[in-house]
Amino acid sequence: MRAIVHEGKEGLEGLKVKEMSERQISDNEVKVKVHTAGMNRRDLAVVTKRHKADDPALIPGSDASGVVETIGKSVTKFQPGDEVIVNPGLGWQKNSDAPPEGFEIVGLPDHGTFAEYYTCTEDHLERKPEHLSFEEAGVLPLAALTAYRALFTRGNLEAGHTVMLPGIGSGVLTFCLKFAKAIGARVIVTSRSESKQKEALSLGADVAISTEENWQEALASEQVDLLIETIGNATFNKSLDIVRKGGTIVTFGSTTEDEVTINIRQFFYGQYNLLGSTMGSAEELREMLRFISEHKIKPQLDKVFPMEEYKEAFEYIQDSKNFGKIAFRVC
Ligand SMILES: NC(=O)c1ccc[n+]([C@@H]2O[C@H](COP(=O)([O-])OP(=O)(O)OC[C@H]3O[C@@H](n4cnc5c(N)ncnc54)[C@H](OP(=O)(O)O)[C@@H]3O)[C@@H](O)[C@H]2O)c1
Repeated sequence: MRAIVHEGKEGLEGLKVKEMSERQISDNEVKVKVHTAGMNRRDLAVVTKRHKADDPALIPGSDASGVVETIGKSVTKFQPGDEVIVNPGLGWQKNSDAPPEGFEIVGLPDHGTFAEYYTCTEDHLERKPEHLSFEEAGVLPLAALTAYRALFTRGNLEAGHTVMLPGIGSGVLTFCLKFAKAIGARVIVTSRSESKQKEALSLGADVAISTEENWQEALASEQVDLLIETIGNATFNKSLDIVRKGGTIVTFGSTTEDEVTINIRQFFYGQYNLLGSTMGSAEELREMLRFISEHKIKPQLDKVFPMEEYKEAFEYIQDSKNFGKIAFRVC
C-alpha cells in the first residue's frame, strides 16, 4: 500500500511516499480503506522528535475516515462497506479522570493513518457522522475530541460563560469556537494574523484581538471565566492575567515552550484553577459525535493535500498557515 513514511533522516527531510507491506488482520480487527487522513500539529512533532537516522520506518497520522474493507472472524459491530472514522486514542475506552496506563495515540509508536489502509480493533472505530463528507469526517476525531473534553468535561463551559481561545488558527481551537457558540457561550479569540481574526469573527467569535497586543487594554479590562491555553510559554502569563479570580485555565498544548514561570502568590490569592487535559475516552468521543450531529457542526476544513504534497502539508502546519484543519486525500 502507498503511505507517507518517515525514515532515514531527521525531521521533515525523512518524509517520503513509498510502498509499505500490509499486515494480516486478526480475528477482532477491521481493515479500513482510508479516504481522508486529517493532519494535526502532533504529526509535525512526531517527525521532528524522531532524531535517530536508524529509527524504524513509521507511517505517521492519527486521524482518518474511510470505508470498511475486510473484517476479522469475531468482529460484530461492522460490515464491509460501512463508513467509519478512526478513534486516535488507543486503550482509553471508559470515561476517567486521566487516560489509563498504556494509553497510546495512533501514529506513534505504531503505524498511523497516512496510508491507503489502516487496521485496528473494532472498538477503535466509530460510524462516520451522516452530515459530514469523508473529507470533513477525516479531520474530526483527534481535534474535536480534544476540544470537547477541554471545554466541557474539564472546563465545565456553560451558556452565558465567556471563554477565551488564544491562537484561533489552531485546528482544535476552531472546534472550541464552534462548540462554545453552539451552547450559547461568549467567545473571545486571539491570532497573530489579522485575516484569521476576521475569519473567526465570521464564524461567530464575539471579539477577536491580536495575540501580540496587550490583552487587558484590548479588552478594556474584561476578564474571562475559562481560557483554553495551548500556546505555552509565549502566552501563558498573559492568559493567567486575563482570567477572572476563581476562573479556570485548561491546557493541553505547548506549541511554543513547555516550561513556564508563574507568580504562585498571585495564583493562589486569585483562587485560580489550572487543569490539564488530553484528547478523551471512546465514551467522550461518542458524546462528541452526538453533540456535533445534534448541532450540525462541521469542521473548519482549510485545505486537502494529495499525499505527494506531504512536504507542503507539513510546512503549512509548521508555518501556521492553516485556519482550522488540513488533511491528505488518500483515495
Ligand atoms: N494533549 C492533547 O491531547 C492534544 C491534542 C491536540 C492538540 N494538542 C496540542 O495543542 C496545540 C494545538 O494543536 P493544533 O493541532 O490545533 O495546532 P495548529 O493547528 O498547528 O495550531 C497552532 C496555533 O498556535 C498558534 N501559534 C503557533 N505558534 C505560535 C507562537 N509562536 N506564538 C503565538 N501563537 C502561536 C497559531 O495560531 P495563529 O496562527 O492564530 O496565531 C497556530 O495556528 C499543539 O501544541 C498540539 O500539540 C494536544
